[in-house]
Amino acid sequence: MTPATSTALQHDFDAVIAAGQRVEPRDWMPESYRNTLIRQIAQHAHSEIIGMQPEGNWLTRAPSLRRKAILMAKVQDEAGHGLYLYSAAETLGADRADLTTKLIEGRQKYSSIFNYPTLTFADVGVIGWLVDGAAICNQVPLCRCSYGPYARAMIRVCKEESFHQRQGYELLMTMMRGTDAQRAMVQESVDRWWWPALMMFGPPDDNSPNTERSMAWGIKRHTNDELRQRFVDMTVPQADILGVSLPDPGISWNEQRKAYDFGEPDWSEFAAVLSGNGPCNTERITIRKAAHDEGSWVRAAATAYAHRHDSEEEAKP
Ligand SMILES: [Fe+2]
Ligand SMILES: [Fe+2]
Repeated sequence: MTPATSTALQHDFDAVIAAGQRVEPRDWMPESYRNTLIRQIAQHAHSEIIGMQPEGNWLTRAPSLRRKAILMAKVQDEAGHGLYLYSAAETLGADRADLTTKLIEGRQKYSSIFNYPTLTFADVGVIGWLVDGAAICNQVPLCRCSYGPYARAMIRVCKEESFHQRQGYELLMTMMRGTDAQRAMVQESVDRWWWPALMMFGPPDDNSPNTERSMAWGIKRHTNDELRQRFVDMTVPQADILGVSLPDPGISWNEQRKAYDFGEPDWSEFAAVLSGNGPCNTERITIRKAAHDEGSWVRAAATAYAHRHDSEEEAKP
């Protein structure tokens, strides 16, 4: 490619971004844009798949058929989200098998939240309410992401996430109308998940080196701190209605800002979990690897079938 062509291509790309239009798979894009998206979409896909584990843990112990059916549908949705996202990454030239290898070998990350254990059934409700709630705050702006396949995948994902959030909240409402022991179980779960949920938005803005570039590219629409604030403002009134307290004495309405003030998460804990030292990091990857190994015969069979099908098609007169 001549320097003149590459300048013209860069110019066209910049114009598409500036006009708020979508970049599509066959369009030219800077390698750094492509690689940033592959990394972000892969990390998102991995989070959906690893996120099936903490809740899947309760499928066999759900307290009723209704709760079991709801939880099963939710965990299946997360598998679907993972598949859409791996497909979106493939449109950028990534290889899905390679992404899975990178996850298993710890070379690509997934959301730190899924390294915490689910100790009680109330955790199923709290994950729906807080973790899926935080995911919605993060993902709704991604429906306007500059990369077309990612933005379109997010529209359906977000619709399903809102079902996840509501089933969690409804479960907690039911438990809060139950016995003292059930109410205590909900409160204890909220106490454990609140701070990790706030960490889902990533480090504070002054410690988030890639945010500015991602925003200039239209991949990201809001900073980490803006999204965290939005989540807190949405969640505090919901906690009041539910009748639980949030484990942060710093939460108070700020009339001037028209927003809630709140405390600082323990960023050293965030760093530890991210670097592999959370309570469940090893368990999550061990289980993922075992599932991948056990599925190797399925992949081999599907590949053999696809080859046979292709050669039969070719042999047709
Ligand atoms: Fe999801
Ligand atoms: Fe979800």
